[in-house]
Amino acid sequence: MAKLAVNGGSAIRDGKNFPAWPIYGEAEKDALMRVLGNENWGIGSVEIDAFEKEFAAYQHCSRAVTMCNGSVTLRNALLACGVESGDEVIVPPYTFLATVTGVLEANCVPVFVDIDPETFNMDPSAIEGAITPRTKVIIPVHIGGNPADMDAIMAVARKHGLKVIEDAAHAVGAEYKGKRVGSVGDIGSFSFQSSKNLCCGEGGAIVTNDEDLFVRCWSIHNCGRDLTGAWYEHNHLGGNYRLGGFAAALLRAQMQKLDAEIELRSRNAIRLTEKLADIPGVSPLKVPAATTRHAWHLFVLRYDKTAFDGLDRAVWLKALQAEGLPILAGYDTPHYRHKFMLNKSFCSFDGWRNSNPDLDYGKIHLPVAEKASYEQGCWLPQNILLGSDSDIDDVADVFRKVYENRSELK
Ligand SMILES: Cc1ncc(COP(=O)(O)O)c(C=O)c1O
Repeated sequence: MAKLAVNGGSAIRDGKNFPAWPIYGEAEKDALMRVLGNENWGIGSVEIDAFEKEFAAYQHCSRAVTMCNGSVTLRNALLACGVESGDEVIVPPYTFLATVTGVLEANCVPVFVDIDPETFNMDPSAIEGAITPRTKVIIPVHIGGNPADMDAIMAVARKHGLKVIEDAAHAVGAEYKGKRVGSVGDIGSFSFQSSKNLCCGEGGAIVTNDEDLFVRCWSIHNCGRDLTGAWYEHNHLGGNYRLGGFAAALLRAQMQKLDAEIELRSRNAIRLTEKLADIPGVSPLKVPAATTRHAWHLFVLRYDKTAFDGLDRAVWLKALQAEGLPILAGYDTPHYRHKFMLNKSFCSFDGWRNSNPDLDYGKIHLPVAEKASYEQGCWLPQNILLGSDSDIDDVADVFRKVYENRSELK
């Protein structure tokens, strides 16, 4: 008789749910009512101003500008850095697409460098070889909430006079050597979309300790106005990328629980890592000593098909999912392989024609990112790490059961 649920056996998590996400309660309801009844719903809301101050301080920065999502934050941060048409921006291929489209929508050229096989973060040793006279910015991404190797990235950036925008969409509250992400580079970019550890449905923010960059980001996100200018005085190119008052109030309520949630996720991540240690075929990413606080937005694992006689990751994932584990493959395509990248279907954003008319993403081959995307990578979402000890033990049991009964998957 089959043991694996995918073949008709009973599932380890039959009838048991992991904690739902987002979590809300009276604090969130009060926050929404506060805005609804008492104040301006949009620009001018005291909630926006208060959240920006609280969030900047939380990320060890002097300034924050909230925006409507964590995609425009990247694009607007690039514009604030003064990029020009055709400038090159170094990015990893293993990230959410917005890291790349933000560059294209700033009319710049994404230049991909490979990732580290142990962390799936940008490999700093690959950066210098990718720098050209057109390079202006590096965008490391803190994958899963684990900070990238910022000392090495900052060293190469400063040597070549480049700005660094940290894509910290996964990494609210994470620390690199005691510094919160976003405070190490020139600008940090965050997303508050529903799945994120700090969320309000849709939203984002940049943080910075650089007053000039703050002023530029603020103007770009508010129709090109100046901080002290009149409403219909537009001195720069900008748009309406503002966050609303309801979202800011929700974020303030969610922030009250953030530290406790980060601690719980960390405890559970340690427990899960220990429980997985003797299960063949799966290994969590490395957490370097420089990661003094991991945000655990994702618990990223590497599947090793050699332990399963070459079994395809998709078949293994199906078996795990059938046991009731909401595991995902995650980023399954290095971004230089998307059709629109290969065809350079970039709408009117044709800055690449200035700097690199022969641009051909089809020639790029970054083996670590490709292995991570096509073969190894898989993710457990952060809400699993908000579960009980027995939830976490079940997760490990699912991996063990599928390994022990791998012959059923042939
Ligand atoms: C690494 C990364 N960067 C940027 C973004 C874009 O954020 P948003 O969805 O808020 O636009 C995301 C969102 O998933 C992300 O994961």
